[in-house]
Amino acid sequence: MKILVTLLVYGALSAVSGQQTCLLGKHHKASPSAEIGAQECVLYAESSCCYANFTEKLSQSPIIKVDNYYWNRCGNLSKACEAYMKKIECFYQCSPLAAHWIHPNMSFAIEHVPLCQSFCDSWFEACRSDLVCARDWLVDWIVDENGNHCKNECIPYHQMYANGTDLCQTAWGASFEVSSSACHCLDMTETDRNVIKYILGQENSEESGEQEACKPRLQKLQEQDEKEEDEND
Ligand SMILES: *[C@@H]1O[C@H](CO)[C@@H](O)[C@H](O)[C@H]1NC(C)=O
Ligand SMILES: *[C@@H]1O[C@H](CO)[C@@H](O)[C@H](O)[C@H]1NC(C)=O
Ligand SMILES: *[C@@H]1O[C@H](CO)[C@@H](O)[C@H](O)[C@H]1NC(C)=O
Ligand SMILES: *[C@@H]1O[C@H](CO)[C@@H](O)[C@H](O)[C@H]1NC(C)=O
Repeated sequence: MKILVTLLVYGALSAVSGQQTCLLGKHHKASPSAEIGAQECVLYAESSCCYANFTEKLSQSPIIKVDNYYWNRCGNLSKACEAYMKKIECFYQCSPLAAHWIHPNMSFAIEHVPLCQSFCDSWFEACRSDLVCARDWLVDWIVDENGNHCKNECIPYHQMYANGTDLCQTAWGASFEVSSSACHCLDMTETDRNVIKYILGQENSEESGEQEACKPRLQKLQEQDEKEEDEND
C-alpha cells in the first residue's frame, strides 16, 4: 500500500515536472536546474530557466536597460513599479512554469498565462503615477541599434491603462490574461508552485486537494479584505 501511494505521488509529480523545459529565448537554459547565487528571481532559484548571472542585471535599481531594451524611456520607474516589472521579467526568463504557456508560433514567447486579478490590481496601483509611452511593450516602439524609443508621449499608467485587467492583458501583448478564478492563477509567489497542478488540470480535480492548494492564497486574500474593511471603518 505504501509503495502504491509512493508510486502514485511520484507519478503525479513527474507528470508535472517531466514536462518541464524552458522557453527558447536568448537567455534561457535548455531545461531548468538549480542556481546558486541568484541575486534576483530567487523564487525560481531551486529550478530555474535562467542562469544566476542573468539575474545580476535585474539586481540594480533603477534598472536602465536589460539587453538593449530600455526600462526608463519615460524616466526611472518608482521602486514599487519596478518591482512588478522584475516579477514579470523573472517569470519570463527564469520560471520553469513559463513553458507551459509557450506561444504556438514563437517558442521564445508565452501566451495567455493566467494571472490573478489581485496581482494585476496591485501592479496597476504600484505603477499608477509612473510614466509610460507604449501601450503594448512588445510592439509600440521605434526600434533601432540603440534600442527601443518612444513613439508617443509619456503619460501616467493610470491614463494609459483603464485598470489592472487592462494593464495585464495589454502591456505584454497576449502574454498574460486575467483568470476568472482567484485560485487557478499565478501571482508570482511561492504558492504558484502548488496551484500549477490545478491550473493545468493534471490532477484529478479532487475537491479537497484543490482547496488545499488554494488555501494559503485564499487566506491571504481574506486577510487583505479584512484589513481593508478595518481601514475603511
Ligand atoms: C552565465 O553563466 C553561464 C553558466 O555558468 C555561462 O554559460 C554564460 O556564458 C554566462 N553568461 C555571461 C553573460 O557571463
Ligand atoms: C535615473 O537613475 C540613474 C541612476 O541612479 C540616475 O543617474 C539618473 O539621473 C536618473 N534619471 C532621472 C531622470 O532621474
Ligand atoms: C500561428 O500561425 C498560424 C499560421 O500562420 C496562424 O493561423 C495563427 O493565428 C498563429 N497563432 C497565433 C497565436 O499567433
Ligand atoms: C477595466 O477596464 C476595461 C476596459 O476599459 C473594462 O471593460 C472593465 O470593465 C474594467 N474592469 C474593472 C474591474 O473595472
